[in-house]
Amino acid sequence: MVGSGGREHALCWAIAKSPRCDALYCAPGNAGIDQVANCVNIDAMDLDGIVRFAKQNSIDFVIVGPEAPLVAGLVDRLEAAGIKAFGPSAEAARLEGSKGMTKDLCARHDIPTADYARFDEPDAAKEYIRIQGAPIVVKADGLAAGKGVILCRNENEAYAAIDYIMTETAFGEAGDEIVIEEFMTGEEVSFFALVDDKCAKPLVTAQDHKAAFDGDVGPNTGGMGAYSPAPIIDDALTQAIMDRIITPTICAMSEEGMPYNGVLYAGLMITDDGPKLVEYNVRFGDPECQPMMARLKSDALEILLACAEGWLDEIELEWHKDAALTVVLAAEGYPGAYMTGSEIRGLEAATEEGVLVFHAGTKESDGKIIANGGRVLGVTARAKTIKAAQKLAYKGVDAIDWPQGFCRRDIGWRAIKY
Ligand code: AMP
Ligand code: GLY
Repeated sequence: MVGSGGREHALCWAIAKSPRCDALYCAPGNAGIDQVANCVNIDAMDLDGIVRFAKQNSIDFVIVGPEAPLVAGLVDRLEAAGIKAFGPSAEAARLEGSKGMTKDLCARHDIPTADYARFDEPDAAKEYIRIQGAPIVVKADGLAAGKGVILCRNENEAYAAIDYIMTETAFGEAGDEIVIEEFMTGEEVSFFALVDDKCAKPLVTAQDHKAAFDGDVGPNTGGMGAYSPAPIIDDALTQAIMDRIITPTICAMSEEGMPYNGVLYAGLMITDDGPKLVEYNVRFGDPECQPMMARLKSDALEILLACAEGWLDEIELEWHKDAALTVVLAAEGYPGAYMTGSEIRGLEAATEEGVLVFHAGTKESDGKIIANGGRVLGVTARAKTIKAAQKLAYKGVDAIDWPQGFCRRDIGWRAIKY
């Protein structure tokens, strides 16, 4: 496993249960992952180091969690070295790595998404704003750790966004090019499918809460919690998303010589005209992966292997009927500046309440668990309903003694209201 977040802990936890798994290593991992895998101190972006380690240790199969090493070509590098890997090639990972390339692909293949234009210099971009008006959305083309999207209520905000990304280079090279998009309204949903050469299989639905504070207000984060299933996505909507968005995208990628393999995560807006693509990610969602893994009944390793080897059509994905919900505990200050280094106590007490505590940003020091990131823990519960899972997850949260952390108290409210 490559990565060090809650997503990778949930995947390692699921994989470690597989009878196919003789040994599991994680680069670089964290204190929680270390309880189910052997952590090796190699950065997820040290592609040479990862390939070398995999060769030296006769690793059969590598699963790449985060987008950055995928976009940088880790899967291509591993496969060139004769090592099987889960995740898209660098070229296919551009679905997340270049918003402009994805928009052009959608345009060529009639995949519904917001109207847009691409720019590589600010003056023409501002001229476009003058013509289009606001609200409007300005996006850095490349990877910006989830921060490269600016929703602009008026034209002045849009001009400022263009300057921020292109002139002040707030996101570095990721902002050399920008995409300007029509502002879509509707309910946002996430959709996940496993994709190999022959087929695409939707996974159970899951939804995160991106805003930092209760009531879905405050700054955008990587996700303060998530739940599965997401009741807004019924069977009819699943079919519409597969038919209009996922399947045409996969066909388009194959036709254009960059076949997709791995998990495809679509961010969608359910508009009055039906589902439209907001963006693609080329990995599992984090924290969405945590409730999804809590619900998975099938052998996780077998599924990922089937996807990488191209026999996904031969397997049946089985899930627990129960719901699952994850509450993220983050360091005070996140998503802005935050402190690391505080001690977290009470993790055993939380586990005794019957929850899974996935670690997102922790390390071990002298036998103590120390906060080492913005999002630090994902307290995950499975129960008959989302409401029951929510109650259990917060029981786990309340057993944890970490004064320097905070969490939202309303994760799952949209699904419970539904
Ligand atoms: P992204 O990183 O592309 O998912 O964008 C971050 C967030 O910005 C999304 O989750 C949406 O809430 C919002 N967003 C992105 N593009 C649009 C759009 N064209 N219209 C409305 N909201 C958008
Ligand atoms: N939770 C949002 C993401 O994984 O991108």
